[in-house]
Amino acid sequence: MKKTIQLILFIAVVTISISALNSCDSSTYEEISKITNPTYEANMKSIFTSNCTSCHSENGTQQSPYLTTYAEVKDGIENGVVLCIIDNPEDCFYSDIMPPAGRMPQTTIDLIKLWQTNGYVEQ
Ligand code: HEC
Repeated sequence: MKKTIQLILFIAVVTISISALNSCDSSTYEEISKITNPTYEANMKSIFTSNCTSCHSENGTQQSPYLTTYAEVKDGIENGVVLCIIDNPEDCFYSDIMPPAGRMPQTTIDLIKLWQTNGYVEQ
């Protein structure tokens, strides 16, 4: 009987420890690769604002295409120019890469592709 209680206690402690470890993991692991349903408001807006709109906007250097709204970003991806220039696949018609400061992390590019695959969810 004593052994059984000890065993139950042991299992309880192990279970709690494992869940504590897991929750710790999730805050240190690259959060971006866990996003399964990216939206414009939650994810895309900040990516394009921090990497592109200092140039590609009315208030930036007014370089086309503008990438400040849902419609503009969706448009740029739908017509192929955005993914072509940020991911530079072999069949890309641009030789340069955006942003000019350097290629974005692959996780960011993959998140944009996932947003496209999922049908450009806005909210
Ligand atoms: C520092 C300014 C700057 C930033 C930041 C920037 N761009 Fe650009 N972008 C330019 C300039 C200048 C051109 C035109 C010359 C060229 O193609 O290199 C351009 C061209 C482009 C073009 C081709 C436009 C055309 O008509 O052919 C696309 C698409 C583009 N950028 C997308 C992006 C995206 C997406 C980002 C963010 C991930 C970004 N750019 C960030 C300056 C910038």
